[in-house]
Amino acid sequence: MTIVTLIEGDGIGPEICESVVAVFAAANVPIVWEKAVAGLVAIEQFGNGVPPDTFASIKRNKLALKGPTTTPIGGGHKSVNVTIRKGLELYANVRLAKSMPAIETRFDGVNILIIRENVEDTYAGIEHFQTPNVAQCLKIITRQGSMAAIRYAFEEARKLERKKVTCVHKANIHKITDGLFLEVFRQVAAEYTDIEANDMIVDNCCMQLVSRPEQFDVLVLPNLYGDIVSDLCAGIVGGLGVAPGGNIGRTCAVFEAVHGSAPDIAGKGLANPTAILLSGVQMLQYMGHVGYAEMIQDALSATLAFGIKTRDLGGTASTEEFTNAVISNLHSNHTIFKVNPEVVATTFRALDVIDEVWQLHGSDVFIEHRGLPLPPESIGPFTLKMMSNRGTKVWPGELPDILLVDQFRCRYYSQTEVQREDVLSLLSELTAQGLRWSHVELLHEAAGQARYSKAQGE
Ligand code: NAI
Repeated sequence: MTIVTLIEGDGIGPEICESVVAVFAAANVPIVWEKAVAGLVAIEQFGNGVPPDTFASIKRNKLALKGPTTTPIGGGHKSVNVTIRKGLELYANVRLAKSMPAIETRFDGVNILIIRENVEDTYAGIEHFQTPNVAQCLKIITRQGSMAAIRYAFEEARKLERKKVTCVHKANIHKITDGLFLEVFRQVAAEYTDIEANDMIVDNCCMQLVSRPEQFDVLVLPNLYGDIVSDLCAGIVGGLGVAPGGNIGRTCAVFEAVHGSAPDIAGKGLANPTAILLSGVQMLQYMGHVGYAEMIQDALSATLAFGIKTRDLGGTASTEEFTNAVISNLHSNHTIFKVNPEVVATTFRALDVIDEVWQLHGSDVFIEHRGLPLPPESIGPFTLKMMSNRGTKVWPGELPDILLVDQFRCRYYSQTEVQREDVLSLLSELTAQGLRWSHVELLHEAAGQARYSKAQGE
């Protein structure tokens, strides 16, 4: 028996979790549930959305199934999901978008596994106002974070006998950040010669998804594109009500439905437990309990195919009636002992990091100024190479006819290697000239190759 943490959550959470407990018991799934609290109940009892005992339970059991939790608006409480995701370093989010019988959509035969990097990208939450009129959010993509999510995608593809992994990105524009994600993808793909690998620009991918979704098998994406594309995929197969998900970490995994706590229907027996049951199915697959996963998935499909549906899907069944119908459709004609013993500990090789000679050659200095500034063209070892406004080059050459905001990026570059002290002198000189700098980025070159910036228009 495996002990799994069960967080019932808020709103409809307890009702739909009860459904999972009943179906798993009827299917004789070898799991014992250990209840822990999170969400409003936890805030009321412990003043904390995720109490230490809940973290301890997940860490001890390494697996959790979580019902939806309400995020209080205002009041300074952080989202329970973000707290759990960051606190346990759950680096990959996994969602399945699979056509279900009797759920009418425009497409049949959709079966897409979406794996999204879950921690980095613009979700690192590093945002600043640079001037009163210019806000910035840093998009952080790391070799290690990308490696973890992408390797997980290939491991899942292999485990679930899927054929193809597609990397979705925008590396034509975000040449360095998405470029790194794509570079890591190609590196990892080369190790999995049994799985086809390709890549697609995110906008084209969205268009293809709503015209020929059956061409996709596994998608792997950076965080922001993953967030949007996975909801799009949920829509393709019938909406959030049938969308399961999981958050995978190096040591723990937390599975949950994509939908929220639905306070409008809580306690009325109207909630559809399909998404959380499918999240449970995903958890069983993760554990290697493929047979039990198939048994429950088939019972769910049969129930829907017989037209037994909850109100949100156009039916009349209550949560309890739907659950009982799923239980009556459980048939143990599956190979239920097809268990992968390696279960939870998906092993990772030591993460590859590049340790190369990294030379400082210059700095992008962001200056707050109304109208084109006139900074010195040469300071110490540096030459002013270019200035841009909102990414468009405004100097040298003719000033383009664009809307200028009050922030200019001034690129100071030296052919020879410089030191940080040189950059400090550069900033001192700009300050002495009355120029208000607000942000500084160092420009490096590695192995004779510029790695600092490839912004458009340069
Ligand atoms: P929601 O997903 O809870 O509800 C949206 C609509 O879908 C409502 O009309 C609801 O009745 C319906 N619905 C959702 N799940 C259903 C189900 N299983 N069966 C039948 N109908 C269902 O989204 P909403 O209202 O924006 O959020 C409510 C609360 O949930 C908020 O506090 C939000 O922060 C939280 N939330 C929590 C999530 C999580 O814990 N994973 C995810 C999304 C939202």
